[in-house]
Amino acid sequence: MAEPAVAPRTVRLAAYTTLKVGGPAELWEVEDEAGLREATREPYRVIGGGSNLLVADAGVVERVVRLGRSFNDVRAFDGRTDVWLGAATPLPGLVRRAQKAGLSGLEGLLGVPAVLGGAVAMNAGTRFGEMSDTLQEVELFVGGALERVPAGELGLSYRHAELPEGAIVTRARLKLTPSTPEAVQAYMDQVDAARAGQPKLKSAGCAFKNPPGESAGRLIDVAGLKGRRVGDAMVAFEHGNFVLNLGAATAADVLALVEEVRAEMRSRGVELELEWRLWGF
Ligand code: FAD
Ligand code: EPU
Repeated sequence: MAEPAVAPRTVRLAAYTTLKVGGPAELWEVEDEAGLREATREPYRVIGGGSNLLVADAGVVERVVRLGRSFNDVRAFDGRTDVWLGAATPLPGLVRRAQKAGLSGLEGLLGVPAVLGGAVAMNAGTRFGEMSDTLQEVELFVGGALERVPAGELGLSYRHAELPEGAIVTRARLKLTPSTPEAVQAYMDQVDAARAGQPKLKSAGCAFKNPPGESAGRLIDVAGLKGRRVGDAMVAFEHGNFVLNLGAATAADVLALVEEVRAEMRSRGVELELEWRLWGF
């Protein structure tokens, strides 16, 4: 019998998320199309950098598919302006390399600890720029095969993309604009300054999307909810939309805190929508 293309292992998802909570799952790390086909034979989810996920303490029953090293092209990025990159390419490295090559388009994403696939799936961004600014086309693994889809068909908007059901982004084609390392760096300095107040402890970034024209963090701040705690989960003092894991938080603590904040804000007439993806609840 042929060797399986991929071997699963049981892991604690806490180790694969930036919030560092979450229980067990079967992790299928895949390196090619055959691996994708095998891993997706049973119900599955796909994980990128785990920087927008709250995973339940009991973990998830579905397989968790993760793209392996062969989908990481950060070292192969040589300064071409129109380039296909693997979806496991870490955004921070890419942003830095684009700056060094004097290419503009990604610098607004400075400080987003995603991999490319997750950044596409969330249309990650800041007010200085988002993934959709450079994204031209994606390669998706969907229905057991790879297909290419123009970015214009992905319904990209604020923290939102409409991927076909079950689709895994495997590659993305980005188009960058020639500039100079100095000009790109100057813009990155502005982005960096805007992020300087964000907390450094373990988090999954902003918990809630901003209501139109407002900052959820500011509203939570004004409501006096900073420092609110459930167990080791705490609303950050630095920014009201960040929920931190002070060390030993469980997913149940984090969710209870987020629900408390949401209820308090609702009682003040503010409806907040979660930006995080919840797994296993
Ligand atoms: P994950 O968290 O692993 O997954 C997020 C979602 O994308 C899940 O639904 C997952 O199934 C799906 N997904 C992941 N990979 C793929 C794939 N290959 N194909 C299909 N679906 C996939 N976000 C911003 O937009 N702006 C910010 O400024 C920002 N700042 C942050 C700062 C910190 C300190 C942290 C921890 C997070 C921040 N975030 C920010 C949130 C997060 O980085 C983004 O939401 C990012 O897009 C998540 O990417 P990821 O690779 O970590 O995806
Ligand atoms: N503010 C407060 N108190 C707070 C937080 C913010 O008064 O606790 C004020 C700030 O002083 C500022 C305004 O609110 O005047 C806006 O704050 P900020 O610049 O931090 O922007 P934001 O709208 O709160 C958004 C994104 C962040 C992104 C930053 C920088 C969302 C939900 N959040 O935050 O994205 O990094 O802008 O561009 O869109 C994320 O999505 O995970 C994330 C971190």
